[in-house]
Amino acid sequence: MGQGLKTPVFPIDMLQGQHTPFYYYDLDLLHRTLDEISRMTAGAPITVHYAVKANGNPRIMKEISSRGFGADLVSGGEVAAAIKAGFKPSEMTFSGVGKTDWEIRLGLEHEIGCFNVESVQELEIINEIAAGMGKTASIAIRVNPDIDAHTHKYITTGTADNKFGIGIEVLHDVVNLASSLPHIHLKGLHFHIGSQITEMKPYAMLCDTVNRLLDEYDREGIHFETINMGGGLGIDYDNPDECPMPDFEQFFNLFKQGLNLRNNQRLHFELGRSIVGGCGTLISRVVYVKESRNKKFVILDAGMTDLIRPALYGAHHQIQNLTSSQEEMATYDIVGPVCESSDVFASDCRLPVTRRGDMIAIRSAGAYGESMASTYNMRSLPGSVFSTPANG
Ligand code: LLP
Repeated sequence: MGQGLKTPVFPIDMLQGQHTPFYYYDLDLLHRTLDEISRMTAGAPITVHYAVKANGNPRIMKEISSRGFGADLVSGGEVAAAIKAGFKPSEMTFSGVGKTDWEIRLGLEHEIGCFNVESVQELEIINEIAAGMGKTASIAIRVNPDIDAHTHKYITTGTADNKFGIGIEVLHDVVNLASSLPHIHLKGLHFHIGSQITEMKPYAMLCDTVNRLLDEYDREGIHFETINMGGGLGIDYDNPDECPMPDFEQFFNLFKQGLNLRNNQRLHFELGRSIVGGCGTLISRVVYVKESRNKKFVILDAGMTDLIRPALYGAHHQIQNLTSSQEEMATYDIVGPVCESSDVFASDCRLPVTRRGDMIAIRSAGAYGESMASTYNMRSLPGSVFSTPANG
């Protein structure tokens, strides 16, 4: 997968002066990624909403909003942050199984483009709150298509056993209910089958399901303005330099060719990881190198509080020593300082001989890195440092 693009060079001198740990964002790569998406969607009835949950850093959000992308949001906090970052409310979608009343009100106040509704009860509550405010809520029904995206069990979302969406077997009833509620404008259908999806097959299966549903609703005379295929496109964590962004051409072509869209129907996507994953690197310093009977540990000043993906999902991120001048290699476990045995970034990792003070890069951390950081152990949140964009 992916596209061979130029290898990023870390501006070591600039990074050396910063307090570690911090996220370093390559804005040039972010802009090249946005360019590529714009190129692949130009002239087609497609809107890409950036899934803010992947990275809510205000600068990153601003760079994306300034390029005309929409925003996919999952909390009132994200709605407020997206407005501040300059995303247009009409280009916002609001997903999530547990939207609270104040969050629904906030979305209605700003007249956001679409609520992605996940249950009958939520639909009724949105109708009730909208009535109280004298408004009409535009909504899409999130359908659970029962498709296994073959990804990590914590990030697969489209099977019947997940908490997400409305079962396809009751969809007709919910569509009828939504059409009958006076303060609801039923705009479309929404699907999202999971995250870090690297095979195209689940998406092809999803296209088949959507085509079948569109045929059925045609027969009933129901037209949807929007079909939202969600996000989930994966990145290549093993080869961040060779494949800094996924193959968007393959991805978008699959939908352009596989979906039988009707006239005046727009296709929505909610991409997070594939937009920002490659451009972020967690930079930290080696505090100590410690040898036990069987192992050598590199102990970093970054821990699972800065990047939880390895501890939570067993995720692999490529690790590099940016400053070692040693030719000799050694095998290390790369760990953080947090008082948890799961605070491990990698086991048996081959690095040039590493010393206290060396600068370590943990790659492909732009998505679900900074946004999932915590202050456990009363640690500070990681900082952020930006390259100067070449074309931004
Ligand atoms: N739309 C909905 C409804 C979602 O739930 C998600 C992600 C997205 C879009 C964006 O998916 P993406 O394009 O980023 O794959 N923390 C996990 C990933 C959780 C994904 C949650 N939902 C990780 O670090 O791998």
